[in-house]
Amino acid sequence: MKTKLGVLISGRGSNMKALAQACDEGRIPAKMAIVLSNKKNAAGLEWARSHGIPVEVLAHGDFPDREAHDRAIVRQLIRAKVDWVCLAGYMRLLSPDFVEAFKHRILNIHPSLLPSFPGLDAQAQAVDFGVRVSGCTVHIVDAKLDHGPIVVQRSVEVLPSDSADDLAARIIVEEHQAYPDAVRLLIENAWHTNDRRIIWGAN
Ligand code: GRF
Repeated sequence: MKTKLGVLISGRGSNMKALAQACDEGRIPAKMAIVLSNKKNAAGLEWARSHGIPVEVLAHGDFPDREAHDRAIVRQLIRAKVDWVCLAGYMRLLSPDFVEAFKHRILNIHPSLLPSFPGLDAQAQAVDFGVRVSGCTVHIVDAKLDHGPIVVQRSVEVLPSDSADDLAARIIVEEHQAYPDAVRLLIENAWHTNDRRIIWGAN
């Protein structure tokens, strides 16, 4: 049975698309089983629907609190028999119960070289700080924001003339490479974690 991915989005969904294409082309030995969004008008949903990927919208405003919303998402992921959860521009913090339900099986992509510039507007943070190099990070999700063990990072140069949008455009190209690479590495290889580190090979 092929590994099943569940992808959570809130917007454009270009990383979701990169993952779906990598699955279709056999670069990731997996199938995208479901795309979930907390926003009914997330642009990425249309692309997913038109490519035959099952889509569910669970608007967070329809739930009394984060925990109830997350429980509904976890139910959908379990129903879709998802092995891995990929956050792809999903603009919600996950509750501890969600992280625990898929422990070490939730990935996130962030547009900076963590631990620099976690949180919102990472590209603008990098430009404002004046760093010469930035990039993207794919990491396993733990209880803290943009924090868990790092799987893949790719770097890009920051040019003196860069706006945050210029830098974001350069980083997103690397994101579309890094996310499929990270998923493939984790699916195809034995690995375990040692505190913050991913150690390749059986425990
Ligand atoms: C990406 O920059 C990702 O790193 C961040 O949110 C953005 C989502 O873009 N978490 P997209 O929706 O995948 O196009």
